[in-house]
Amino acid sequence: MEIQLTLNGRPVTDSIEPDTLLIDFVRAHGCASVKRGCETSNCGLCTVFLDGKPVLS
Ligand code: FES
Repeated sequence: MEIQLTLNGRPVTDSIEPDTLLIDFVRAHGCASVKRGCETSNCGLCTVFLDGKPVLS
């Protein structure tokens, strides 16, 4: 599916698979500071802001 979003103030359009994780998407678009930690939604290391609210990526 094709998505359009604003990533750190920059417009991004890309085609993704339905099971693409947000963390993988943002890292693939230059946001390497987003880290993978536990992968079980416990540590919060992968947190990003989505529409101004923190979410696990
Ligand atoms: S990697 Fe631990 S909550 Fe996302």
